[in-house]
Amino acid sequence: MNIVLLGAPGAGKGTQAKKLVENHSYLHLSTGDLLRAAVRNQTPLGLKAKAFMDAGDLVPDDLIINMVKERIQEDDAKNGVIFDGFPRTATQAVALDSELAELGQPLDFAILVDVNKEVIIGRLTSRRTCRECGYIGSDADASCPKCSGEMYQRDDDNEATVRNRLDVYERSTAPLIDYYRGKELLVTIDGDRPVDDVYADLVKALGL
Ligand code: AP5
Repeated sequence: MNIVLLGAPGAGKGTQAKKLVENHSYLHLSTGDLLRAAVRNQTPLGLKAKAFMDAGDLVPDDLIINMVKERIQEDDAKNGVIFDGFPRTATQAVALDSELAELGQPLDFAILVDVNKEVIIGRLTSRRTCRECGYIGSDADASCPKCSGEMYQRDDDNEATVRNRLDVYERSTAPLIDYYRGKELLVTIDGDRPVDDVYADLVKALGL
């Protein structure tokens, strides 16, 4: 099964994707995580992407599309992919459709995790992530509750950058809601509830 997780920054896409792959054998493909690894490793892609990410702007489509195309050719993508943070533009959405058609594995669902703006700003400015295992938590976690690793704050989780990311989302990504509705793939989930309640709706929507 191939699933796109849509939603504003901080809606909880990564949190839900991690729960899903704990219980099902899908690949969690987060373009944000792939880009952050590229920045950390100072690859040519990372060096090009860093300034866009620090500003909360989108990394150019061609870089992202090539990165995703390469990743979904790998063996661990064969059982299905949860696309988290991709596509984010109409160009990316069309490229994904054509790539999946070529692989003979079309998209099954586009899940919109819906959360309002003010909730999101609070969530992102207090988000902390584990350096060791990637657990997503908050500033209430002194260390990682899963592996005791160090929790850090992402460079783009300051309020000014978060507000720009939300504007970019409205301009470039929110139009994809209608794109997927038109293809009858869209399911909307209220993301402003406890994580486990959101997850229960997600697995129900996916028929898992
Ligand atoms: P990316 O890493 O994709 O960031 P994002 O879309 O802004 O999404 P986030 O990771 O911030 O949020 P999320 O929805 O996953 O929420 P989370 O589960 O962490 O992208 C970063 C940058 O990379 C972009 O700005 C861009 O520059 C570049 N980029 C990436 N993909 C790109 C693409 N396709 N094209 C171009 N550029 C691209 O949760 C957030 C917080 O809320 C956490 O603290 C969590 O614990 C908490 N939380 C989650 N669910 C709940 C809940 N139900 N109740 C209470 N708290 C909750």
